[in-house]
Amino acid sequence: MKNRGINLKTDSMNQLQTSVAPASRVEGEISVPGDKSISHRAVMLGSLAEGMTVVRGFLHGEDNRATLAAFRNMGIPIEESAEGVLKIHGKGLHGLSEPADVIDCGNSGTTIRLMTGLLAGQKFFSVLTGDSYLRKRPMKRVVQPLATMGARIWGRKDGEFAPLAIRGCELASAEYHSPIASAQVKSALLFAGLYADGITTVREPHRSRDHSERMLSLFGAEVLSFEGGVSLAGNPRLQGREVFVPGDISSAAFFIVAALITPGSDLRIRNVGVNPTRCGIIDLLRRMGAYIELENLRELSGEPVSDLHVKSSPLRGIEIGGEDIPRAIDELPVISVAASLAEGRTVIRDARELRVKETDRIAAMSSELNRIGGRVKALEDGMIIEGVERLSGGSVSSHGDHRIAMSLAVAALRASLTVSIQDTGCTATSFPDFWHLLERIRQ
Ligand code: S3P
Repeated sequence: MKNRGINLKTDSMNQLQTSVAPASRVEGEISVPGDKSISHRAVMLGSLAEGMTVVRGFLHGEDNRATLAAFRNMGIPIEESAEGVLKIHGKGLHGLSEPADVIDCGNSGTTIRLMTGLLAGQKFFSVLTGDSYLRKRPMKRVVQPLATMGARIWGRKDGEFAPLAIRGCELASAEYHSPIASAQVKSALLFAGLYADGITTVREPHRSRDHSERMLSLFGAEVLSFEGGVSLAGNPRLQGREVFVPGDISSAAFFIVAALITPGSDLRIRNVGVNPTRCGIIDLLRRMGAYIELENLRELSGEPVSDLHVKSSPLRGIEIGGEDIPRAIDELPVISVAASLAEGRTVIRDARELRVKETDRIAAMSSELNRIGGRVKALEDGMIIEGVERLSGGSVSSHGDHRIAMSLAVAALRASLTVSIQDTGCTATSFPDFWHLLERIRQ
């Protein structure tokens, strides 16, 4: 792409490099691609349901395609129409067959962790692996509690790192108190609980995203959410359903912040999922002074959906921590960009989980924002960010992480010179069309 403000080229290491020029305004009306978390779950539960599941709005990013390929490799026919609609011919809870090869989860933490739970209760052997980033991410957080249900799983460093080898077996239901608020941990246990007699209960310190619970109910499972946790009755009969996947608030987040920090901006984003367990970014930005209005609020496939209207707003620093964190965990990188351009100081605490995402997002955002004139101090569990009037230009790196790449692209809109971002091919993980959309709305 070579046009007014965004240039993509390949560098000497054959990596994509993108330069983004400052913007004078952001405006228009856009839709963002489907929710990544919901897309994964639609393929998984559609495959375990009886009969056909039709999925509209599926996110065709690399992470979700890894999940799609995995279920096809376990014998589930999944058709794709030219418009990207999926037809999943589910074979029921016991309809998967042993994959003939190792399952490659690519960069996707959700794929590997949820599937570890789901495969633990099968009658076959399977191996899960992923790319060099995924193979460095902690897996014991699911392997260890699954072992208390009887699961037999082996991995490098005593089960901490993939590849993970799973000898499926009979599972017993369990009650687990998770020390971290993680939807991947919770969902891995609930998916294992599908194969156990009795009730599986997961408690967590703060409520993490509840897409699994909502979709399990939609497909006919008995799920009870209560203060502090969730319970699921084992051995349900899941029925194929029609699933509408709303736009991903984690993708909308980049455009929300772009509009807020660029004076004179006015942007509408259609069909965004506004599940309360995911909407932390809206609440936090409003606390900073943002104009964000929810219009046409409705419900689709058990998930709340809305259009968002955003106008540029002067932002001020705030304190972020505790239960704010799981509700905005994937948006904290782009919130750190908003904070860098707010008046005063923002403090983010209790966000140690950011250190074990696709990359160490505390280290990555603090080092890269500081390279372009930000004032960010990394803390063990967060960041202290002093706002500046404007960022400068320069060269930064995505650290191979899609959300870091897109957050830096947003920061570049409010820099005084062009920002060149190294290693931007990773945006295909969750948002293949990001650069075109950014070009469309920037003036
Ligand atoms: C996800 C849960 C979160 C989130 C990730 C997607 C999910 O991870 O960061 O991008 O779909 O369940 P954790 O469960 O590790 O917090």
